[in-house]
Amino acid sequence: MTQRKIRKAVLPVAGLGTRFLPATKAVPKEMLTVVDRPIIQYVVDEARAAGIEHIVFVTGRNKHVIEDHFDIAYELEDTLRARKKQGALDLLDAIRPSPGSTSFTRQQEPLGLGHAIWCARDLVGNEPFAVLLPDMVMKSDPGCLSQMVSVYEETGGNVVSVEAVPEDQTHNYGIVEVDGDPQAATFSITGMVEKPAPGTAPSNLFINGRYILQPEIFTLLENQEVGAGGEIQLTDAMLALMARQRFTGLRFDGETYDCGSKSGFLAANIAFALENEELAGELRPLLGDILKL
Ligand code: G1P
Repeated sequence: MTQRKIRKAVLPVAGLGTRFLPATKAVPKEMLTVVDRPIIQYVVDEARAAGIEHIVFVTGRNKHVIEDHFDIAYELEDTLRARKKQGALDLLDAIRPSPGSTSFTRQQEPLGLGHAIWCARDLVGNEPFAVLLPDMVMKSDPGCLSQMVSVYEETGGNVVSVEAVPEDQTHNYGIVEVDGDPQAATFSITGMVEKPAPGTAPSNLFINGRYILQPEIFTLLENQEVGAGGEIQLTDAMLALMARQRFTGLRFDGETYDCGSKSGFLAANIAFALENEELAGELRPLLGDILKL
């Protein structure tokens, strides 16, 4: 079946990053580095690899450095050119989105993920779009959003990526209820709940921060009452949309690092460093020494 192409992605980046203070006092949490790239770069690369043509960043005060990261840095680039550092210049060229392919809008108030996505409504318009939560850094080939786009091309509708989580952690996430074999690669999602109380989760499959959504979600978000944590939740609006539209779950095939937590962030650094042959050669013995202590 031919589906409308997923051209746009929304990246909510307004969060304060309080779990990483004081590191995030003046630097947005999305700019903390995993090896040699800021977290946000991994997510933008994943989106571009999935065919995304335009990225909408929903930002807040103190986040302008994200906009600078995706722009030309004349002084730096002129200096690199004068010093004939072509490798570094090529690297900067490769990560810079083409002019006009990014938009930035501010959430203004921290009213929840659902509200952040709603802030992108005019920039997305009336077409299906992707949402990527930058806290979640994925390692897989093809990338998580590419895997989802392949499913979407078959199913249309809405697609949500999920993966298993230990039962004692379900209350930290959005959890889906599925129809069919939950071990299968894809299944129909029949319900979802944001941060269920311990012991009440409908499954052990959590929403891992990647969504393909139809634009009707915006009308539902506009009228969405506050939910878990006193915030406007995307999960609640998706549940409402489920009454009218198809939701397919994709069991993500790859590794996810929750860089919103210190342990996930550190694990991401080690995992990505070990992927780089040269760095891995230096790092392995150092890690071995530390673990022996
Ligand atoms: C958000 C979503 C939740 C999802 C999680 C993934 O929660 O609301 O459904 O499971 O991201 O990281 P947050 O982490 O913003 O509390």
